[in-house]
Amino acid sequence: MSKVVVSIITVFPELFAEWAGTSLIARACQTGRLTLNCLRLSDYAAPKERIDTPACGPGAGMVLKAPIVSAAIEHAWAQYGKGSVCFFTPSGTLLTQRVCKALVGSWGLAREADAQEPAVDAVRHIVLVCGRYEGVDCRVITYYNGIELSIGNYVLMGGDLPAQVFLESVLRYVPSVVGDAQSVEHDSFSGSLVDYPAYGQPNEWNGLSVPAVLLSGDHGRIEKWRHDTALERSVYSHFGWLRTSMLSDVQRARVGVVMPAHYVILMHDQVLIGRKEAVPGTTSVTTIDVHDIARSCATYGVKKFFVVTPLKDQQELLRVFFEFWHTDQGRMYNHNRYDAMSCVQVVDSLADAEAAIAELHDGMMPIKIATSARAVHGVQSLAFDHQASAWTHQAPIALLFGTGQGMTQELLQQCQYVLTPLYGFTRYNHLSVRAAVAIVLDRWLGYFQPVEE
Ligand SMILES: C[S@@+](CC[C@H](N)C(=O)[O-])C[C@H]1O[C@@H](n2cnc3c(N)ncnc32)[C@H](O)[C@@H]1O
Repeated sequence: MSKVVVSIITVFPELFAEWAGTSLIARACQTGRLTLNCLRLSDYAAPKERIDTPACGPGAGMVLKAPIVSAAIEHAWAQYGKGSVCFFTPSGTLLTQRVCKALVGSWGLAREADAQEPAVDAVRHIVLVCGRYEGVDCRVITYYNGIELSIGNYVLMGGDLPAQVFLESVLRYVPSVVGDAQSVEHDSFSGSLVDYPAYGQPNEWNGLSVPAVLLSGDHGRIEKWRHDTALERSVYSHFGWLRTSMLSDVQRARVGVVMPAHYVILMHDQVLIGRKEAVPGTTSVTTIDVHDIARSCATYGVKKFFVVTPLKDQQELLRVFFEFWHTDQGRMYNHNRYDAMSCVQVVDSLADAEAAIAELHDGMMPIKIATSARAVHGVQSLAFDHQASAWTHQAPIALLFGTGQGMTQELLQQCQYVLTPLYGFTRYNHLSVRAAVAIVLDRWLGYFQPVEE
């Protein structure tokens, strides 16, 4: 039987007493799978010596002394053998389920199903150092090649709660700490979706019912309901996490189906023109824009790309262009580009584009999200991780892009939202509209595949 020993170095071991004696942690200790070894930092100081010292340089703040923290680590190692040393610090690696799983794997603590069982009676020793004051003298972390972990981008008074949070999360992966391996595998953030919502008895409570499907006894339907609800929750409430998780091609396609329908509208009308004094006007279409934007739209699952121009000669130019791309000639020349081009539609006005979208959605008008290279006042701003705000409307989404010097104020003010301008770490942000569309679509709808660990 493998055994996990966790040495916890802290100023206040009493903070762990009740926690360690409760629930699953207590049971793991009773069964002998887990040993918690709390070390009081002051026990490693000379009599009457302080455990902290002023931080070097001007300003207030005390740090935990390097020789004292080091003596506690050495003592823990002498007791249970050398083991990884983790330091809790707000600026450490953010603790996520993925980080937990990777650490558990690297320490050989994983459940039997995921890991080769270690040699009989193998002891895995982990040392956790809980900081206080301004933290631990950073040389200790360097010397012990420590793993720095943060439980969130906020600052607590000490590392004791982070140590408990960390253990409650990693120990779920240790065999026999959590009885049911399945419940761990289905946990939110463990697989590709967050968990489905949980219901219990009674069936009716305060006017709220358990969904009928869960009481149907039909396991197939229940599984489907669980999967569909988990998928919907993941897309609508946790898109930031979902888009960075490991998803198969099939899973990515399912996400694409659940996401609200998106449309791109390229405005050649109601835009500002003129170099010195920008005035409202119309711009000419550019086939390279149409071509490249169509390909971006196809990549990011945009349903249709509307080119808005009221100018008949411009519409005629596009008609000739599409005579090739919307026919067999174009398909035979390059079927990928033919596919992309099939989503392009030329319309006279924004109202026509909106009406065409509404027709595809039982009359539901799209939520209009403007884009601009400059800040826009009077329209609610959306950051690129605010999909949930726009998606709660349960309506199709139209992303509007301007040409020339950008959309007129009048047009911008008709939109429900405006995305924050695209910037790098420079003052320059004069992108071509086709580049802007590609970047916006990637930031708003893109999947950021993680590297397999
Ligand atoms: C007051 S904090 C020190 C903050 C430090 N001056 C900083 O800004 O990084 C004292 C201790 O609390 C713990 N701590 C505070 N916030 C934490 C967090 N978000 N994650 C992990 N540990 C944290 C660390 O052990 C830290 O050394």
